[in-house]
Amino acid sequence: MARTLKPFISARRLQARVRALGRAIRADYDGRDLVLVGILKGSFIFMADLARAIQLPLTCDFMRVSSYGSDTVSSGRIRMEFDLSHPIRGKDVLLVEDIVDTGWTLDHVLRELRKKKPSSLRLAALFHKPERTRVTVPIDYLGFKIPDRFIVGYGLDFDGRYRNLPHVAVLNA
Ligand code: IMP
Ligand code: MG
Repeated sequence: MARTLKPFISARRLQARVRALGRAIRADYDGRDLVLVGILKGSFIFMADLARAIQLPLTCDFMRVSSYGSDTVSSGRIRMEFDLSHPIRGKDVLLVEDIVDTGWTLDHVLRELRKKKPSSLRLAALFHKPERTRVTVPIDYLGFKIPDRFIVGYGLDFDGRYRNLPHVAVLNA
């Protein structure tokens, strides 16, 4: 069956929401030692826009994790592919993720990051699918709550594709 893409969230709405998150984060982190930690690859576009929307001095780092399993269903087995390039001990870490689906990825990553003793650790996620939750992870800054649909664009992929769409679309594979 041919894949179809149905427009879901416009570039304009994404930008407005990301700017609002940036303002909220700025207000909370003023005067602190903020490190944004993006989870590759899905967060790279959100992270780029969010970082520019936070009008504070900050640093950026990245880590890569992957879950075994098929393309559209997370399996709950998470593998760390590469880690942060700088210590975060004593820093105020804000983890930046594209989407919280089952919660397995974030649950694992948050536990690993806590071992590195940051002075605080919070999560910014652009999307959350509450219907799919298997492990609850607290999302401190959430972009959009969405129904159980597979979405692509603005960093999110299917089989490596569609990350460069400026808007978000629902994929029917
Ligand atoms: P979780 O461990 O089930 O929360 O899975 C999170 C990861 O699955 C995300 O970081 C995405 O890489 C991927 N994912 C979950 N839902 C979607 C979606 O709708 N579109 C694209 N990727 C998704
Ligand atoms: Mg991801």
